[in-house]
Amino acid sequence: MTLASTLFTALWAASLVVADEPAFIQNAGYQQSAYGQYPVQTFVSNPNVTAPIFNVISTPGEGASNGSHLFISPRGTAVSNPSPMIVDAGTLSVVWSAEEYGTAFDVKIQQYNGEDYLTFWAGETFRQGYGHGYYYMLNSSYDIVYNLTAVNLTVPGDIHEFQLTPNGTALITIYEPRAWDLTAYGVQGGWLMDSLFQEIDVETNDLLFEWRASDHYNLSEAYLLPGTYFYDGKSAQSAFDFFHINSVDKDSLGNYLISARHTYSISYISGTTGEVLWQLGGKRNNFTDLSSGNATNFAWQHDARWASPSSSEQPRIMTLFDNGAADFNQSFPESRGLRLAIDTVNMTAAVEVSYNSPQRISSESQGNMQPLPNGNVMVGWGSDPAFTEFSAEGEALWTAQFGLIDGKATSSYRVYKQSWTGSPRTNPSIAAGNVTASNGTTTNVGAGGTSNTVYVSWNGASRVASWSFLASNSSDNLTTPDQTWRNVSSNGFETNVTVAGAARYLRAVALDADDAYLGATDIFDLQERRRRPGSRVNWQEEEEQQPSETAGDEASATQSEAAATSSTAAAVSLGAPMGLVVGLVGAVMMF
Ligand SMILES: *[C@@H]1O[C@H](CO)[C@@H](O)[C@H](O)[C@H]1NC(C)=O
Ligand SMILES: *[C@@H]1O[C@H](CO)[C@@H](O)[C@H](O)[C@H]1NC(C)=O
Ligand SMILES: *[C@@H]1O[C@H](CO)[C@@H](O)[C@H](O)[C@H]1NC(C)=O
Ligand SMILES: *[C@@H]1O[C@H](CO)[C@@H](O)[C@H](O)[C@H]1NC(C)=O
Ligand SMILES: *[C@@H]1O[C@H](CO)[C@@H](O)[C@H](O)[C@H]1NC(C)=O
Ligand SMILES: *[C@@H]1O[C@H](CO)[C@@H](O)[C@H](O)[C@H]1NC(C)=O
Ligand SMILES: *[C@@H]1O[C@H](CO)[C@@H](O)[C@H](O)[C@H]1NC(C)=O
Ligand SMILES: *[C@@H]1O[C@H](CO)[C@@H](O)[C@H](O)[C@H]1NC(C)=O
Ligand SMILES: *[C@@H]1O[C@H](CO)[C@@H](O)[C@H](O)[C@H]1NC(C)=O
Ligand SMILES: *[C@@H]1O[C@H](CO)[C@@H](O)[C@H](O)[C@H]1NC(C)=O
Ligand SMILES: *[C@@H]1O[C@H](CO)[C@@H](O)[C@H](O)[C@H]1NC(C)=O
Ligand SMILES: *[C@@H]1O[C@H](CO)[C@@H](O)[C@H](O)[C@H]1NC(C)=O
Repeated sequence: MTLASTLFTALWAASLVVADEPAFIQNAGYQQSAYGQYPVQTFVSNPNVTAPIFNVISTPGEGASNGSHLFISPRGTAVSNPSPMIVDAGTLSVVWSAEEYGTAFDVKIQQYNGEDYLTFWAGETFRQGYGHGYYYMLNSSYDIVYNLTAVNLTVPGDIHEFQLTPNGTALITIYEPRAWDLTAYGVQGGWLMDSLFQEIDVETNDLLFEWRASDHYNLSEAYLLPGTYFYDGKSAQSAFDFFHINSVDKDSLGNYLISARHTYSISYISGTTGEVLWQLGGKRNNFTDLSSGNATNFAWQHDARWASPSSSEQPRIMTLFDNGAADFNQSFPESRGLRLAIDTVNMTAAVEVSYNSPQRISSESQGNMQPLPNGNVMVGWGSDPAFTEFSAEGEALWTAQFGLIDGKATSSYRVYKQSWTGSPRTNPSIAAGNVTASNGTTTNVGAGGTSNTVYVSWNGASRVASWSFLASNSSDNLTTPDQTWRNVSSNGFETNVTVAGAARYLRAVALDADDAYLGATDIFDLQERRRRPGSRVNWQEEEEQQPSETAGDEASATQSEAAATSSTAAAVSLGAPMGLVVGLVGAVMMF
């Protein structure tokens, strides 16, 4: 199934069961603020999650890559609940949000010791474009396994980079203000914002390497002067940010590739001496541009990487995101991802592919370009809350937004498309209540002011394909498949079912695509309108199958044990057939 048909199937299904508001498709009002600067929805079953509602600007074409999820970190003046987020790449519904971390940057999956980790920076940001915080590595259960920090400096680690190397180390950036003589710029008692990067050992947080821009670059390399924008140079917080490091990559030769926004340059740094081996772009460009300037005229750029760690073949392939369309100093008509051929023997640079924004998005800051496993490219438009997936050759395959483009009120530092399996330690959540539409209108979908629509969700669970609702009017002991009332396909983050009257106790069991048990909610008492913990669920499928290795210790009972309980099953007390699976559409309401 192509991604396009996945998306449309999911959206079509979602339109039948509105617990999640489905993504908009080419909605003309979206960019006209019809739903606000940052359209969001909230959920009955989990008040801790506020999710963006996307607008698909152009729908997925053939050839989109198969990564299962998108990784974003919405923030900005329109975002009251900033959070790292995982979004389903097919339906664009949120899978995981963790507002306890607050503002996050660089949310993505990275490998460490052969395991996938969800990694990101979280902390406090400043309008000058840097931050103070920590670097997190979460396992598939969302436990914080590592919480890393900058080593031996006056400030904590900065927002811009948290890149793991294949050698079990991490590359991070730090913005450290230092008293500095700026009298040449007419500033007395001046402050310089120094840019550093460190390589640290993940296991011990020990410092392995440190590099400081002021040791290698003159202030005159900068394309802005003290007094520009937020950088008056007069205080530690508004220190003159002459370099603005925003990415660090390391190759198999042990050297570093760094991007400095305010010098319009990408530098290759010796991993032993720290000296600048060469520079691409900026005032000290060392390369002949074979593309009449287009390979070196990037500006305010981000996310410079080697596309392949191999450093032995020439030319080497480099990718970056060019913010040259930034409206305050425009050098290029629109933002673009760049794939460059860099010949470090003959010192030439050429554009291989330019991934230009089909909507001519002009990102004034942030942004990234992620090469995907099938050769495609994911571009996150940074200060514009949108992304585009391109074919390798530069054809835009699809674009979606999660806030107003050019609105300056919502952004996501980077956007990644990757595959992830999340199995939270929490139980899934259940609640009954009303439906609140994104326009704020509350509809009581139950009878008589006390809603009998029941909602379930499971923050972080990536594998839920359907929910089996267990119900009973007489017993709150809902523990076996025999008590199944209805099976409902998962509807994105939150799934609802309407209990039109009689059943007092309800519980939901989350099942994966093979109908294997994943987890069970508390029991919801619709009469007293409260939750209580249920006994352990004994789950076994009707048809013979091997227990899923991920089913967990609760799903331990054998089929004969489950069958032995059937005489007390809820379905009997409700006068309905055992284990009846009712389809989503045209279902007979039994209650
Ligand atoms: C919401 O967050 C609070 C505080 O962390 C927590 O106690 C509660 O269980 C969360 N609710 C859900 C449904 O996850
Ligand atoms: C991460 O570690 C820092 C100290 O290095 C601490 O202040 C912070 O609270 C930790 N974060 C979490 C979420 O525990
Ligand atoms: C910490 O930084 C100080 C000042 O830069 C330096 O003198 C000292 O050697 C550093 N200590 C370690 C353990 O790196
Ligand atoms: C990994 O370690 C090897 C052996 O020390 C070294 O040659 C290589 O440069 C390192 N690679 C990175 C990316 O750090
Ligand atoms: C790069 O250019 C600088 C001058 O701008 C020069 O000093 C340096 O030798 C050059 N390096 C290389 C590798 O060409
Ligand atoms: C440079 O980029 C501009 C803008 O996309 C384009 O019009 C021009 O043809 C490019 N020049 C070369 C030599 O690639
Ligand atoms: C460098 O240029 C020479 C002469 O044009 C060419 O023969 C050679 O292949 C180039 N080297 C590389 C590594 O591309
Ligand atoms: C996804 O695509 C990659 C690269 O094209 C391929 O290696 C991988 O097997 C695919 N995975 C699935 C689950 O289809
Ligand atoms: C549902 O909405 C009605 C008003 O439409 C309100 O009276 C009631 O308290 C709400 N119930 C819940 C559970 O939110
Ligand atoms: C709000 O949205 C709901 C559901 O989409 C719709 O029924 C209602 O008419 C809308 N109300 C307003 C004032 O737009
Ligand atoms: C979910 O709620 C919607 C109303 O918002 C309703 O039309 C739909 O039937 C409900 N789904 C189920 C399975 O009860
Ligand atoms: C709950 O149900 C299970 C299986 O149906 C049964 O073994 C157990 O005795 C029941 N417990 C209570 C407290 O009714």
